Amino acid sequence: MAVIIKTPEEIEGIKKANQIIARLYKEILPPHIKPGISTKEIDKIVDDYIRSQGAIPGCIGVPGPYGPFPAATCISVNEVVVHGIPSEKIILKEGDIVSIDTVTILDGFYGDAAITYPVGEIDSETKKLLEVTEKAREIGIEMAVVGNRLGDIGHAIQSFVEKNGFSVVRDYAGHGVGKEMHEDPCVANYGRKGRGIKIEEGMVLAIEPMVNMGSYKIGMLNDGWTVVTRDGKKSAHFEHSIAIVNGKPLVLSKLD
Ligand code: MF3
Ligand code: CO
Repeated sequence: MAVIIKTPEEIEGIKKANQIIARLYKEILPPHIKPGISTKEIDKIVDDYIRSQGAIPGCIGVPGPYGPFPAATCISVNEVVVHGIPSEKIILKEGDIVSIDTVTILDGFYGDAAITYPVGEIDSETKKLLEVTEKAREIGIEMAVVGNRLGDIGHAIQSFVEKNGFSVVRDYAGHGVGKEMHEDPCVANYGRKGRGIKIEEGMVLAIEPMVNMGSYKIGMLNDGWTVVTRDGKKSAHFEHSIAIVNGKPLVLSKLD
């Protein structure tokens, strides 16, 4: 399938959808990320806020092997890599990390971004995991310039993460985003310099390293959604949607 190049108007629409998530992550959610809150309660805050902005949560109803995704947002605690299902039984405690991955649909355009928060005080190795994963996303974004190729993004992310003693998940990747949640191309978080398709003006990409403290190997729980690390060690996830404008990356999911 071909990569869909967006017009400036479309990029503006995708940005509006992403700005809702940006505000959620920067202003709405942080006061709630505390020991004692359940991931179901967090999901409700996200769902309510998205709808209050005239948008629709994009995760609800996405088909899975044993049924559709049942919530507005994917909430993944500690060793859960991605696609955790919000539950009243999953309650945050001091020292946890919680990854929140939210998709919005506004006027037919998708927003997609993820963040990992610390819950209270976390140990220094876990702090490093969050810092490295967020920095890996920024390093990947910096490589998203006209003239580079997709492999340059993956290679930059992978080498930075591995240099810091962590690993990048292979089985899930970033993607194009626009009038669909997942469009071509697939943006792997590993790769080789100079490989893959060329980055072009008007591309809109979700860049989303998932970084494991231990091995990159993952498994899937019986619910058909929850992705966990095989070794039970922690995993972090940071995602931005970006557009290539004037040859350079413009981050759409960072608060204006
Ligand atoms: N941003 C996630 C992804 O790219 C959203 C998945 S929606 C789901 O995989 F709810 F269906 F998982
Ligand atoms: Co995504």
